[in-house]
Amino acid sequence: MKYTVMMPAAGSGQRMGAGYNKLFLKLDDKPILAHTLDVFEGDLACEGIILAVKPDERQAIQSMLEQYAITKVTAMVDGGGERQNSVAACIRAYKGSGIVLVHDAARPFIRRAVINELVQVAAEHGAAIAGVRAKDTMKFASAGVVEDTVDRDKLWIIQTPQAFRYTLLQEASNKAEDEGFLGTDESMLVERLGHPVRIVESTYDNVKMTTQEDLVFGEILLNRR
Ligand code: CTP
Ligand code: MG
Repeated sequence: MKYTVMMPAAGSGQRMGAGYNKLFLKLDDKPILAHTLDVFEGDLACEGIILAVKPDERQAIQSMLEQYAITKVTAMVDGGGERQNSVAACIRAYKGSGIVLVHDAARPFIRRAVINELVQVAAEHGAAIAGVRAKDTMKFASAGVVEDTVDRDKLWIIQTPQAFRYTLLQEASNKAEDEGFLGTDESMLVERLGHPVRIVESTYDNVKMTTQEDLVFGEILLNRR
């Protein structure tokens, strides 16, 4: 089943501390952004990628697409102040229908099998998000004092991709924008509509390159694959 990707790449990578957008950092001599784009470039089911970029990085990213022979980017839109605004810009630019996937440019290790399942489940149920089970004991605490131990069987660590019927995502995004609601992922926006969101079990190696130690892990993963 075909899908289109909305990919926010307009962050500033504060927590990585490189002093510039972390997506330009290299893993095995290739920028993180190029690794992530490659996954979709090589997936026959992916019909196109809408990238949200910072205006002053547009040129550099255009050159990167040429250098790494990425052909599926159909639009590059200006990102916004928050991740949600960048995704909203992608949603506005999309002209099709069917299933769309939102995926962080900072997650280069997503597996095609997970993408495929997300698309199938979203086609059937409207919304599907990637997640892994919490491995550690989880507690609620206030000011460093435990209030409760949470039932771990019900806890999931949520990642991207998140897949949706486009019309559902569009409605959720418009409602959030109208009401000035800012969520941490697109699922939250869809949850606010009262629409059920299904979790598709992903893998622990679908890490987001966020801090320096993630790069170390990323290099190891690349060498192992
Ligand atoms: N992103 C975006 N627009 C923003 C903020 C983030 O498109 N205004 C993108 C990032 O480029 C990244 C993804 O959203 O691909 C996930 O965000 P995150 O990992 O938080 O990246 P940054 O915001 O760049 O990093 P930090 O929060 O450490 O500054
Ligand atoms: Mg951020």
